[in-house]
Amino acid sequence: MTELLVTEVKARDAVMEAIDLAQTYEVSRGLGRKASVKAVTGISFRLAARSTLAVVGESGSGKSTLARMLTMIERPGSGALVIDGADVADASTATLRRYRGEVQMVFQNPYGSLNPRQTIGKAIEEPLLVNTNLNAAERRARALDMMARVGLRPEHHGRYPHMFSGGQRQRIAIARALVLRPKILVLDEPVSALDVSVRAQVLNLLVELQEQLGVAYVFVSHDLGVVRHMADEVMVMYLGRAVEHGTRDIIFDNPKHPYTRALLSATPVANPGAKRERIVLEGELPSPFNPPQGCVFHPRCPLAFGRCKVESPPLEEKAGRLVACWAV
Ligand SMILES: Nc1ncnc2c1ncn2[C@@H]1O[C@H](COP(=O)(O)OP(=O)(O)OP(=O)(O)O)[C@@H](O)[C@H]1O
Ligand code: SF4
Ligand SMILES: [Mg+2]
Repeated sequence: MTELLVTEVKARDAVMEAIDLAQTYEVSRGLGRKASVKAVTGISFRLAARSTLAVVGESGSGKSTLARMLTMIERPGSGALVIDGADVADASTATLRRYRGEVQMVFQNPYGSLNPRQTIGKAIEEPLLVNTNLNAAERRARALDMMARVGLRPEHHGRYPHMFSGGQRQRIAIARALVLRPKILVLDEPVSALDVSVRAQVLNLLVELQEQLGVAYVFVSHDLGVVRHMADEVMVMYLGRAVEHGTRDIIFDNPKHPYTRALLSATPVANPGAKRERIVLEGELPSPFNPPQGCVFHPRCPLAFGRCKVESPPLEEKAGRLVACWAV
């Protein structure tokens, strides 16, 4: 199948579409002063069924804010979120309840989302109790089936969260998120709190589950290296905006945005003998209260020139991907 056909098929199969999503928070800065933070600005994408979109950026780039909008935990400040053909951004609470089952979330710290006094069997069955009419025996059967899929044994059903390792707890959280068979799973840094040795196991499990269940992932990470093997598409965020978005191969083999190149140069290479430019970013992420004029990346960009300080580059298609940079 040609590249174009694949894209067309995927476009028809989109399970989620974000159109110009944005979120602004009003925050108090003491002494009655108020300020607003544009946490997310102008995010658009189509998520194909059974595919993985990785969202990557430094701390504070707006990834979790985006994840909360996609899972309908928070309403978007503006923009549209289309799930199964319906825009849910302004939907009534009753309508939202119907679509919430389609999109589930896994957080970085599974311990925080598990009740220490509830057995993990009950925790996994809870979404079924709240959202379906299944009886106790059916709920138990569904929970045991999902536990087996994530690599937990039947005898784990009656145990409590503290009796499990970090990796097992993340498996429990994944089982709980998938037990309603959502079309989409949003994972916010799902392996960042895990030991390196356990990370690959959980990532491999996610790949297997996607093949078995056909679920689509939005996978949020600050680390490009983590998403290298599982992403179909990668969107790189900086200060709430997408700066580059393309297929995994394009982003990893031929990144164009200076920020993507810097992030990539900081990830370890599979072949240590291979030569790679090492780009060290100067300075910190600027204050979101007072973002730089022009291109928001210009104070840290090794390629910045006059125009970058006054005009913000649009995200546009160049060299087979979307990129926001005057120098590309
Ligand atoms: N509820 C909130 N109220 C006020 N500001 C917020 C809120 N949530 C996020 N922010 C601000 O929005 C910006 C983006 O935050 P967000 O948590 O989405 O980033 P992130 O990319 O997930 O970062 P991290 O990698 O640290 O998790 C930050 O400047 C943050 O301080
Ligand atoms: S627009 Fe200018 S400052 Fe921004 S990333 Fe491109 S070269 Fe750097
Ligand atoms: Mg976050």
